[in-house]
Amino acid sequence: MSQDELKTAAARAALAHVEDGMKLGIGTGSTAEAFVHLLAEKVGDGMRVLGVPTSERTARLCLELGVPLTSLNEEPELDLCIDGADEIDPALNLTKGGGGALLREKIVAYASAKMIVIADESKLVDSLGGFALPIEVNPFGLEATRLHVQGAYRDLGYSGELRLRVRSGEAFETDGGHYILDASFGHISNPKALSDALHAIPGVVEHGMFIGMASLAVVAGSGGIRELPARG
Ligand code: 5RP
Repeated sequence: MSQDELKTAAARAALAHVEDGMKLGIGTGSTAEAFVHLLAEKVGDGMRVLGVPTSERTARLCLELGVPLTSLNEEPELDLCIDGADEIDPALNLTKGGGGALLREKIVAYASAKMIVIADESKLVDSLGGFALPIEVNPFGLEATRLHVQGAYRDLGYSGELRLRVRSGEAFETDGGHYILDASFGHISNPKALSDALHAIPGVVEHGMFIGMASLAVVAGSGGIRELPARG
């Protein structure tokens, strides 16, 4: 199977966890989009769900395909969030934000009783950090924030590179009007310590490590579908 077919297979398997009447957080990225297409078919067959999209891009797709939407202001507590990831470690800690939606993704996942992460098996890693960590920052004071982020990594013993994400020659802007610094500092030995250090920097809005948030990973690979529950 191609990687796209594996993404669709994971999305299809995750759909089995969606029950009639659920309020759903709906992720961003190609795997989440495969899920939206399959969910739309179920809605067409009469399933009742209400979705909260994690990005404008996902909102547009849901509207196009007829998946009913609401917001966290109207429905602040969701039953289930289904989203993709850039990396999944054995404890189901995730790297997210490759698509730039990490802040809304984290807000929606946090508002959900359960988070299921869907992916092809290439996303499984022994430890986070092979994929550059997206760090969402306020444009105000960008250079000062960049120095503090570099300092936080250095103080924790990492060395590497921090790059402002650029698209079509301009700084990439998130749905919230923020910028993204992609941090390539290799293997993250202690995600919680790095998370705390990044959160202590005022210009950092959020980072793409999702620590202890996913309860289940639905992963498609050459051997079929695996459902990996969070330990503990
Ligand atoms: C977007 C994300 C995506 O879930 C992540 O980048 C995975 O994307 P894809 O399913 O296209 O591989 O975090 O911000």
